[in-house]
This record gives sequence, structure tokens and C-alpha cells, in this order.
Amino acid sequence: MSDLLIQNISQIATPKPGVFRGSELRSLNIYENAAIYISDGIIKAVGSIAEVMEEVEGHPIILDAEEKAAVPGFVDSHSHLVFGGNRADEFAMRSAGMSYEEIAEQGGGIVSTVEATRDASKEELKNLARIRLQKALKQGITTMEIKSGYGLDLETERKMLEVVNELKKEQPIELTATFLGAHAVPKESSKEKYLEDVLAMIPEIAELADYCDAFCEKGYFTVEETRQVLTRGIEYGLKPKLHTNQFYDIGGVEMAIELRAVSVDHLEVLNDEDVQRLARSETVATVLPGVSYFLNIPYSPARKLLDAGALVALATDFNPGSSMTISMQLLMSMACTKMGMSVEEALCCATQNGANALEKSKLGAIASGFQADILLLDTENYRDLAYFFGENHVHTVIKKGEKVWESRG
Ligand code: NIG
Ligand code: FE
Repeated sequence: MSDLLIQNISQIATPKPGVFRGSELRSLNIYENAAIYISDGIIKAVGSIAEVMEEVEGHPIILDAEEKAAVPGFVDSHSHLVFGGNRADEFAMRSAGMSYEEIAEQGGGIVSTVEATRDASKEELKNLARIRLQKALKQGITTMEIKSGYGLDLETERKMLEVVNELKKEQPIELTATFLGAHAVPKESSKEKYLEDVLAMIPEIAELADYCDAFCEKGYFTVEETRQVLTRGIEYGLKPKLHTNQFYDIGGVEMAIELRAVSVDHLEVLNDEDVQRLARSETVATVLPGVSYFLNIPYSPARKLLDAGALVALATDFNPGSSMTISMQLLMSMACTKMGMSVEEALCCATQNGANALEKSKLGAIASGFQADILLLDTENYRDLAYFFGENHVHTVIKKGEKVWESRG
């Protein structure tokens, strides 16, 4: 792999390397008129061109940033990117006044995507996913978690996880696979029977996944059912993540922290004790403003979580039913206007804290020793990411020290 020297960067804006909480997230490391030297996909030096040149060995490839700003690649730690079908009809129904829960009760929602995902061949699913990943890459996502959960039977859950694993090798975004068998109960089964099925699936799919997730929510899986699923996952080497507190608070957060979950995600409905519990824990609180916007439900109290000292990450939750967006930039803007984050916090939550939610300690910052996942923006100032919203500011995407996408504009 050739070395790379990026010169003429107007401004590098990056979280400080490490795991930070509370007020520490409010300040970034900022370097003006800067350069970055990368060797073997790893950042070796960051700073003024003179400082960086002292570290350069041999003759690296030179990339002239032409006064663009640089930020770390986005880490999207929660998505459902592999799915069949399309639920634009449900969006229209919701726009006409129906709620997400009413649509689910009438046979729409998650189970409708299950049908389309079961019907699709592995190749079809992979092609759809590849197109979506290309869109994600253009938007600056360089690392992404993808869940199963639209199969709800062993064959289709395996097919989804195989798609993720094959795509790991076929495109530049670094992927993590999560088993979400306990996403909903399929039409043909009962809760009792399906829970047994999920428990039996875990040993079968464990080698295809990194994490185990479940939907702990009224009408889906209770705290005790979820605990059984996550515990079985742990037995087979899959650390827990959890969808919880989206519509109701049924106690999922406390249970997940007890099981040392890597993250609890959604948290639109969150009580103050759970805020404090999260602040005392290592579990990342992953907030998903795309869902609140798309379903028109409350936003998670990210400000409270940050002030209490919880580890907070921002993720897309990209899925056809509750968050049809792949734009971390738009989410940063929503996090600022709707959740009270500062732009600096939003950037940390979308990069380094997302990496924490995937246990990737050398990702999510532009710092010596970190993997060289870097975005060059079409602007001189990182604040435009949230300020000039609805726009894609990514000009160049560098993954592991290689240029993997560049805007023609
Ligand atoms: O994370 N909340 C549960 N699951 C998804 C929604 C899935 C769907 O509607 O298809 C979510 O929001
Ligand atoms: Fe989700």
C-alpha cells in the first residue's frame, strides 16, 4: 500500500482521540492550514506541513486538498441496510394521519419488509445493498453496522448476514454484522414458538455476526424475553446491542446495562434514572434523530444524556419503515436543532462515539495511530456539515489511506 500525504487542508476538525464524556465532547482538535501523512493505511502525523514533513519517509503520493476542510469518516453504528421492497406507501399513509403502530397492527411495518426480504434472492438483496452502500459512501460513511431482522426465519436471517459478510470484501465501507432475529414475531408463528426459534438460530448464525440485538418494546419482546435472547447471544460470543425505549419505557435500559450491552439504541422515551444509569455505565446511548423526524415522535433527550456524562452516539437507523435516510450530515443538523447538541458534539457522536458503539478504538478521529478514514469537504469549515443542511458536503472519501470516492463536481 502506498503512503499518502494530504497537503493544503484549510482546517482539520476531529474529536480528540480517546473515550470522552460530558463537557469533554464540546471541544475538538482543530488544525488550520494543515497536512496529514498516512502510511500503510494508518495516520502517522497530523499538523502543520512543516511538522508533518519531518515524519515523511520515501516518496508518498501527494493529494492536494485545495483548501478543503477534513473530518474523520462517519461511523454509522446502527442500520438495517439489507432489505427487500419499499414502504413508500406507508410513508403516504402516515402522512395522511396513521401512526407507525397502527400500520404495524394492520399487517404493515416490519412484517411487510419481511415478506419482500424472504422473496428476494441473495443476489438481489446484495445488489440492492451494494447500491445503498455506494450512496452511504458518497455521504461520507466509512464504517457501518448492518443488522439482520427482516428474515425472521433461519434461512432468511442467514441470507441477510451472508450478504453483509460478502459485501465486507466487495466494497470499501467497513461493515459489522448484527443478528436481530428478535425484531418482531413473524405472521406464521406465535411469540412463544418464535422465541424458541430465535434461541435456536443463535448457535447456527453466530459465526456470521459480531453482535446480537433485539427489539425490547411493548408489542414486540418483553424485558425477560429480550434477556433470554441476549444471554444466548453472549454464550455464543455475540455481545449485546439493543433497540429499546422507542415508544414505551418497559425497563430495557436497566436490563441491557446489567448485561453489559455495548449500546442501547433509540431511547426516545427515557426516564431520569436510566439517564443516570447510562452515565455511570460503559454502554453507549445511541440516538437516532432520523426516526423521530420520520415518524414524528419525540427526540431522544440527548442533551440530558450528554450533560449527565453518558457516552452518546448518533446513527442513521437506515431502514425502510422508520428512518429512510443515509445522511449522517442531516442527522448532525437535526441533533443540533432538535436535540440541543453543539456542532462539535454532533461531530464527535457521528464519528468517534459511533466507533465506540462498535468497539473500534482506533477509528473516528484524525490522530496519529488511527486508521486513515478521512473526508475532505467541499467547504473550508466543518460547521457547514450541520449549518448548510440537506446538502452533501463530502468531496473526497479516504478509507484506510486509499481514495475510494471523489465528487466530480
Ligand atoms: O430501528 N424499531 C425497530 N426496528 C426498526 C424499524 C424497522 C421497520 O419499521 O422496518 C428501527 O426503527
Ligand atoms: Fe433499528
